[in-house]
Amino acid sequence: MNLARTSDLWWKNAVVYCLDVETYADGNGDGVGDFLGLTQRLDHLAGLGVTCLWLMPFYPTPNRDDGYDLTDHYAIDESLGTFGDFTEFVRTAADRGMRVISDLVVNHTSDQHPWFQEARQDPDSPLRDFYVWRDEVPEDGPHGVVFPGEQESAWTYDEVAGQYYHHRFYHHQPDLNVANEAVRDEIRKVIGFWLAQGLSGFRVDAVPFFLETDGIDETMELAPHDYLRDLCAFMTRRSGGAIMLGEVNLEPEQQREFFGDEDGDELQMLFNFIGMQTMYLSLARGDAGPLADGLRSLPDIPDEGQWATFVRNHDELTLDKLTDAEREEVFAAFGPDPDMQVYDRGLRRRLPPMLDGDERRIRLVYSLLFALPGTPTIFYGEEIGMGENLAVEGRRSVRTSMQWQPGPTGGFTSADRDQVRRPPPEGDFDPDHVNVRDQQADPDSLLNWFERMIRHRRDLPILGWGEWEVVDTGHTAVLGVRHVLDDETVLTLHNLAATPSHVDVDPDVEDWQVARDLLGDQHVEADGSRLVVDLAGHGYRWLRIESS
Ligand code: GLC
Repeated sequence: MNLARTSDLWWKNAVVYCLDVETYADGNGDGVGDFLGLTQRLDHLAGLGVTCLWLMPFYPTPNRDDGYDLTDHYAIDESLGTFGDFTEFVRTAADRGMRVISDLVVNHTSDQHPWFQEARQDPDSPLRDFYVWRDEVPEDGPHGVVFPGEQESAWTYDEVAGQYYHHRFYHHQPDLNVANEAVRDEIRKVIGFWLAQGLSGFRVDAVPFFLETDGIDETMELAPHDYLRDLCAFMTRRSGGAIMLGEVNLEPEQQREFFGDEDGDELQMLFNFIGMQTMYLSLARGDAGPLADGLRSLPDIPDEGQWATFVRNHDELTLDKLTDAEREEVFAAFGPDPDMQVYDRGLRRRLPPMLDGDERRIRLVYSLLFALPGTPTIFYGEEIGMGENLAVEGRRSVRTSMQWQPGPTGGFTSADRDQVRRPPPEGDFDPDHVNVRDQQADPDSLLNWFERMIRHRRDLPILGWGEWEVVDTGHTAVLGVRHVLDDETVLTLHNLAATPSHVDVDPDVEDWQVARDLLGDQHVEADGSRLVVDLAGHGYRWLRIESS
């Protein structure tokens, strides 16, 4: 394949790593992570083989939603360092071959944002119309709340303004009014600003809500998707290789719209929420069926588009696309205690504790992460098998500080544990049991396995670029995906069950001679046209089908 083209579309063969500066590494000993600490840890990430860092919000914030509540789109929260520290970080990441993207949060601001403060106080201010106001809660407007249990309504009365304002998320996160051209200009400016600081694009927060204009009095002269197309065109005008990775947790057919036309003129990437949710159902059942159906339900996407595959993100592990009964199955298997669940739709646990630390299953899941069609997206700490801390409230249970070495704060900071905002868990997943330093020294550790898997994944652009299809393996427990690119065929097999499987597939390659084991040395010689493989319980194989 054409290497120049592959690097133009870098996101199709990237390894993305999401982290929060606040919880990653504390460089100045105040108990809060910062850019200085993160910069000192970049070699860990480069060594792992990460090619793109996604930073969760690092902008000034009252921190009532972990930084997703901004008071300034053009600055760094002072607890995380100075702008100089940020620039040093971006420069050092580039030096180590890593791009940086950041969260673009433009659906809403914090209610402490100077825009909102002026808007509520002065009905004549041009900023008033930056937000969505109504005298009465509109019957036809949007009502759905995103955080049931923590949020009562999508409209809150503001005493100062004497009106209701709209907020899809918490009441302290008023929604911006994208129907207002001045707001759209400002969002462009934000994008241009961060591109000028050296970023390679954005993880766009809450895209469908951001585009929503229902309930807004004046309608936007641009249809929502025309607006998104406009914004993406603006971004790529400013910086050719920049991308937008969208949070669009909708049904697959609706997701397709966000990639734009056949040439992909809207978002470059979308998270594969369906793949993630059906994978957990498959794991719970020991049956590949749900995941196979999930993958089959994905729409065809433009050549330049890409799915971001993930096992865990920073939010609740949402199971909202499963039926109630299916969700209950996953809850029963992986989070039966109500304290492990949140918003009636998700889990606030990380994978390794859900699997009782079973390394075979953990590796099976991460083999899927790297092998499924798309771009693997890692949440910090997954590479060492970090667990959650249920003592930390809500979704933040999975956002505890990174575990670098043994000890009460896991080497995250030199400050005392009680100064750490989100301390690591106690027990089997504490830093004495799970940490980077010990795993670096152990060739069989999860960390070293991750590094090898990432090397394999990067070596196989076919997994990000190829045409793919789910194939019949003769066994419902085994997921088979056949990837084809030019004259190359790679078949990946994953056994979701604990029992061994005898797999019999048609690799669909004429006169094939050998199925080369890409992760080991268990090559399979051809004996007839079918490929017959024995897979151990929770076993997996990546095979290149080679003809003479
Ligand atoms: C997105 C983020 C989530 C945040 C919310 C509001 O869903 O993933 O963490 O709370 O937007 O910004």
